[in-house]
Order: sequence, then C-alpha cells, then structure tokens
Amino acid sequence: PIVHMTVPSGKRIELEVKTGTPIMRAAVDAGTEGIIGECGGAAMCGTCHVLVDEAWLDRLPLMSQNEDDMLECTAVPRQANSRLSCQLRMTEELEGLELTLPERQR
Ligand code: FES
Repeated sequence: PIVHMTVPSGKRIELEVKTGTPIMRAAVDAGTEGIIGECGGAAMCGTCHVLVDEAWLDRLPLMSQNEDDMLECTAVPRQANSRLSCQLRMTEELEGLELTLPERQR
C-alpha cells in the first residue's frame, strides 16, 4: 500500500509500505527527508512524529499509553492529529493515508 507524505520542504511524496511494516521503518529505509526514528521504533524518542490528515484519524489503531506519553516530548509540540509513525503498522485499509511531517524532529 501507498502512503502520501508531505515532507518539511513542502514536497508531497509517495511511500510504498509493506503490510505489517511500521510506517517509520519504511520512511527511514527510503531515506525520507524529515523523519529520524532514532530509537528504532520503541516509542522512546519522538523523532518519528507525524501529523495525520483529519479524515484518517479514526481509522488508525488506538494510541498506547507509551505513545501518548512520548508525544509530550516531540521537538515540534504535539497537535490533536499527532502520532508516532513507528506505532502505525501498515494495513490494506490504510492505502492512501495522508501524513505531514513536522518541521523538525529534534
Ligand atoms: Fe522512536 Fe518512533 S522511532 S518513537
């Protein structure tokens, strides 16, 4: 499935993410600008922060307490549509997901 991402420079990119793969992992492996994933996906660094298009918010898996806590520590302050992309595993239902990357991750 494909995820659309608007990166900090304003460019909109398409990212292929295999089903079951965390979106952070696919983005980092593809060398995507504006995402770091320092902790490797453990919800412990906050450098995989993404902003989710409103239309998609309800379709994402529920947030764990760890993710919720870590979102308080992101470089760009969290917004109502903030998630950690390492906690978002790709599914067929998320085909076409729209994400925007924050200005910076640290
Ligand atoms: Fe560290 Fe997501 S990669 S919190």
